[in-house]
Amino acid sequence: MTTLLFFFAALVAVVSAAPLEKRDVFVPPILYPHAGTVWKVGQKHNVTWSTADAPTQITNKQGMIVLATNGLEDIENPLASGFDILLGRFEVTVPDVADGNDYALVLFGDSGNFSPNFTITH
Ligand SMILES: *[C@@H]1O[C@H](CO)[C@@H](O)[C@H](O)[C@H]1NC(C)=O
Ligand SMILES: *[C@@H]1O[C@H](CO)[C@@H](O)[C@H](O)[C@H]1NC(C)=O
Repeated sequence: MTTLLFFFAALVAVVSAAPLEKRDVFVPPILYPHAGTVWKVGQKHNVTWSTADAPTQITNKQGMIVLATNGLEDIENPLASGFDILLGRFEVTVPDVADGNDYALVLFGDSGNFSPNFTITH
């Protein structure tokens, strides 16, 4: 019984402490590609995003760009990773994927941010 009480006391402590923890979550909006963008397989393009709202302290400065096909993120094969999220742009090579799907990019810093769907063709 005592153990159980300690458990709940600890749980309450954890839950109530969470909002006090200061995190500067930076979720930069992707500017390019946008709706209507058409990329060809093998081309190089600069993915760009806004750094205007970047807080001074960022918990995760390491960026990662992931392709999503029909809403499904391919997190195992990022198009780019390990770059500085404050760069505002990063060059990627369009991967050899099938025509006719809805493609979007997800930019990860602290959390993922989807671009609008765009087109990749051969
Ligand atoms: C991407 O941006 C960099 C830096 O401005 C530039 O050197 C490079 O040529 C650009 N790449 C493309 C594909 O436009
Ligand atoms: C992009 O396409 C996916 C799958 O086709 C769809 O689920 C999603 O809602 C679309 N996103 C937007 C922003 O329209």
